[in-house]
Amino acid sequence: MTEQEVVTGGSSSKTARVLSAAAEPTKLDQIKLTEEDRVSTGIGELDRVLGGGIVPGSMILVGGDPGIGKSTLLLQTCRELSRSGQRVLYISGEESLKQIKMRADRLGGFSDTGMELCCETDLTAIAAILKERKPDVVVIDSIQTMYNEEVSGTPGSVSQVRESTAVLLQLSKSLSISVFIVGHVTKEGTVAGPRILEHMVDTVLYFEGDRHASYRILRGVKNRFGSTNEIGVFEMMEQGLAEVKNPSEYLLSGRPEDASGTVTACTIEGTRPILLEVQALVCQTSFGIPRRQSSGADLNRINLLMAVLEKRLNMHLGNCDAYVNIAGGMRIMEPAVDLAIAMAIVSSFLNKAVSGKLIAIGEVGLSGEVRGVSQIEQRVQEAAKLGYETVVIPKVGIDRVKGIRGIRVIGASSVQDAIALIK
Ligand code: TYD
Ligand code: MG
Repeated sequence: MTEQEVVTGGSSSKTARVLSAAAEPTKLDQIKLTEEDRVSTGIGELDRVLGGGIVPGSMILVGGDPGIGKSTLLLQTCRELSRSGQRVLYISGEESLKQIKMRADRLGGFSDTGMELCCETDLTAIAAILKERKPDVVVIDSIQTMYNEEVSGTPGSVSQVRESTAVLLQLSKSLSISVFIVGHVTKEGTVAGPRILEHMVDTVLYFEGDRHASYRILRGVKNRFGSTNEIGVFEMMEQGLAEVKNPSEYLLSGRPEDASGTVTACTIEGTRPILLEVQALVCQTSFGIPRRQSSGADLNRINLLMAVLEKRLNMHLGNCDAYVNIAGGMRIMEPAVDLAIAMAIVSSFLNKAVSGKLIAIGEVGLSGEVRGVSQIEQRVQEAAKLGYETVVIPKVGIDRVKGIRGIRVIGASSVQDAIALIK
C-alpha cells in the first residue's frame, strides 16, 4: 500500500489551465503541419531510437537502473547538441557542479561548447530559470530528486514525481523546450519510479544492460513520434559511451570455433536484423530434479522446446540439466530464435558441433514443425553480408529469399531436418 496525497487547487489545476488554451475545436484539414524539423542529437543510435531526432518541445523519459550510464549518455547528448548550436541546460539534482565537471573532463570535448549547468531541485526555481533563459533542450537528472513545494511528500514519492513531471510538461509545451527526464528504476521501488509517469511523457526510453558487461542497450518503450521497436547499442568505455554501429559483429566476437552447443541465430530489433550466438549446455543431472536455466531467452520456451525434442525426436533430455545463454547479454523473446535454441541443445546433448558458418532461423511448433517468421529476407541478407555460408530457414519462406546471392539456403519443415545438419 502506498499513501498518496490528494492535491487540491495548486499545481494540478494549473496544468488544466494550460491545456484549456487549446481547447477550441479545430477542423482537422485546417491544421497546418510545419515540415518535421527534428533536431539531430548527434548520436546516431539515440536518433534511431527517437525516430530520427528530437521533436522540439517533446518530453523524453530516460529510465534505467542506477549506475547504468544515463547521466553519461545525456551529458554526451548535451555536448553534441550544444556543439551544433542548440542552447542546452543540464539541471542536476544528484551531482554537484564539480562532479559533473569531472565527468565532462573525462568524456572530453566540452571546451568549445556553450553548455550550461545548474544544480537545483526546487521546481519553482527551475521554472523561473527556464522562463528566463528559454533554452532549447533541458536535462533533468533525475526526476526522483525534484520537489514541488506545493505538494506534500518527500522527493521521489509518487505524488512528488507525478506533480513535478506535470509542471515540467507544462513548461515544456508552453515554452517549446525539449526536456529529457532521467528516472531511476529500482527493483524494489518501481512504484515511485518512472512507471507512473510513462503516460505523461511523449517518449519513454529504457537504458539497460548488465552493469558488469560493457555494452548497453537503449530501448524505446513508447514513442509518440516513431516506432518503439528500435534499439540503440552502446559500449561503455573509459571515455564514455561509444556507439556500436554493427551490433551483429560485436555480439558474435569471441565465438568459439567448432565447439558443441553454440548456434548463430538472427533476431529483428526494430528495422535492424541482429545476429547473435545462442549457447546451450546440456549434461546429466546429478540431483533428483533437473535444473533448467536461461539467461537472455524465455525459460518457458526452453522447457517447451525440450519437451518437443523429447517427444518428437526421442531424445532423453528428461534427466538432463540444461543451461541456455544468449551471448553478449541480449534478451530475446522472439520465437524466431527457437530453431537455433533447439539446435544448440541437441548439439550440446550429442556433443557434436554445428558449423560456425551456419545460421538457424525459425519458430518451432509443438509438433516439431518449423514455422515461418517475419522479415525473412532481411535476416538472410544480414547473414550473407556477414559472410555466413549456410542459412536454415522455414521451408515456407524459401521463395521469398530466392534472389539473395552468396549464401546457401536450406528450407526445413521440421526440427528433424535442421538437426540432420549437426555432424
Ligand atoms: P552514470 O552515467 O553515472 O549512471 P546513471 O546516471 O545511470 O546512474 O554511469 C555510471 C557508471 O559509468 C560508473 O559506474 C562509471 C561508468 N563510466 C565509465 O565506465 N566510463 C565513463 O567515461 C564514465 C563517465 C562512466
Ligand atoms: Mg546519474
